Amino acid sequence: MAKILLVDDEYTMVQMVAEVLRAEGHEVFPFTNFNGVMEALSTRQPDLVITDLYLDKTKPHGLEIVQKARSLVPPPVVIMITGFGTVESAVEAMRLGCYDYLEKPFKLDELKLCVHRALNHTQVLAENQQLRKELRRSYQFHRIIGASAPMQAVFHMVERIADTDATVLLLGQSGTGKELIARAVHYNSRRSQGPFVPINCSALPENLLESELFGHRKGAFTGAVTDKNGLFHEADGGTLFLDEIGTMPAQLQSRLLRVLQEKEVRRVGDTTAVTVNVRIVAATNENLEALVKEGRFREDLYYRLNVVPVHLPSLKDRRDDIPMLVTHFLRDKIHSRSGQPFKVTQRAMAALCAHDWPGNVRELENAMERATVLADLPLLRVRDLPPVVQPRASGDEATEDQQVAAEAVPVGPRSTPAGAPGMPPTAGSRSGPALPAAIVSLKKFAHDQELAYIHHVLACTGQSKEETARLLEVSLATLYRKLAGDGE
Ligand SMILES: Nc1ncnc2c1ncn2[C@@H]1O[C@H](COP(=O)(O)OP(=O)(O)O)[C@@H](O)[C@H]1O
Ligand SMILES: [Mg+2]
Repeated sequence: MAKILLVDDEYTMVQMVAEVLRAEGHEVFPFTNFNGVMEALSTRQPDLVITDLYLDKTKPHGLEIVQKARSLVPPPVVIMITGFGTVESAVEAMRLGCYDYLEKPFKLDELKLCVHRALNHTQVLAENQQLRKELRRSYQFHRIIGASAPMQAVFHMVERIADTDATVLLLGQSGTGKELIARAVHYNSRRSQGPFVPINCSALPENLLESELFGHRKGAFTGAVTDKNGLFHEADGGTLFLDEIGTMPAQLQSRLLRVLQEKEVRRVGDTTAVTVNVRIVAATNENLEALVKEGRFREDLYYRLNVVPVHLPSLKDRRDDIPMLVTHFLRDKIHSRSGQPFKVTQRAMAALCAHDWPGNVRELENAMERATVLADLPLLRVRDLPPVVQPRASGDEATEDQQVAAEAVPVGPRSTPAGAPGMPPTAGSRSGPALPAAIVSLKKFAHDQELAYIHHVLACTGQSKEETARLLEVSLATLYRKLAGDGE
């Protein structure tokens, strides 16, 4: 059902059309002259406007109505009714954004069809817009984790500014995701088809950074053996990401400022400048304002860059996100021996959430990487975490062992049939699973497997060595020997 505003000066015709449309289930607001139509457009917010071109013989009021309708947000779709011989006005109406026109006299079936098509059109438009927005949203954020309020604020900001050409300044400690957000800004802007060019301003000495950024002419300095375009040229039509902008030397700051003001770049040793169309996203983990006060960063450049500042929160200020990040970093990780996907014990998760993460998300990502390489079981325990994280553990180890016993799949012969994931790939195959980072001899593999299996059964039996020995059909002495690492 749609809201339809209907305007025509022929009373009987309005009556009839209104009746037909109401019978179709629509809500109809009929008008037989111009009075009150403009107000109704704003107050009724119709989905569809059907209007006659001439409401009296003097003036094509219909055009005014179309214009007004098209200025509304969202604009209703408009069908113009025209009398015989007013084709030119019909053309004008289409130019103003009418969806269709009906020439008088028309059949009611024609009208119904036309209305149906117009309403379908609006619906498709609205759906498309929604779909496109969702698609962008998922593209933008599907790899960026952050359900916490400060991250949601960041996402919201990125959504609002991505489509503008505004310069963005990303602020936050190292490892908080500044580069990830810089990419999100680019891939959600009109420039997404263009290049994203990152450069770390602290990675190069001054003269190299200068020629990297702006390019150089052959012979401009020793070593400039050919003409070379700079990153500003490369980023033309796209986004240039200036990382660690706080470390940029003073002289380059001046050059950068000039490029930003004039939107043209002159290569080192060149006399002429070329226009470039580049959006700047800059990032720093330093306090730029303090650098400005100390005279180490140009104030005018600071204001140029600080058009839209976006603050990325430190991980310890958004601990709620840690479990999701942990899951995210373990998503595709498979325990090489058991072929099982990695999980973490509750005790380990609690320790991860309690740590302060001075290196932020990057440190957490590395910690998960390290743990998955070193862990015996696909269930990560506190002891698998980096030493700095371990002291944050609370709760006792026995409870953790119980969880391991209940959840971890034993790393034994039963769970690793030949060819299972995690086993070395067949000779010559390049498409199978990757070799484990630390490949070991078959003897050591068998030994480790055995030991892991013994520990598993021990955990299941509440650490009862007698029962474990019985279940494994070995003597107690053998069990002790194997546990002492003297199994071979
Ligand atoms: N919110 C996040 N969700 C998922 N991964 C993240 C997030 N923030 C950072 N990372 C990851 O952490 C690492 C460091 O992020 P990066 O953007 O390089 O940080 P910065 O530029 O602030 O030092 C990268 O591997 C990045 O993919
Ligand atoms: Mg970075």
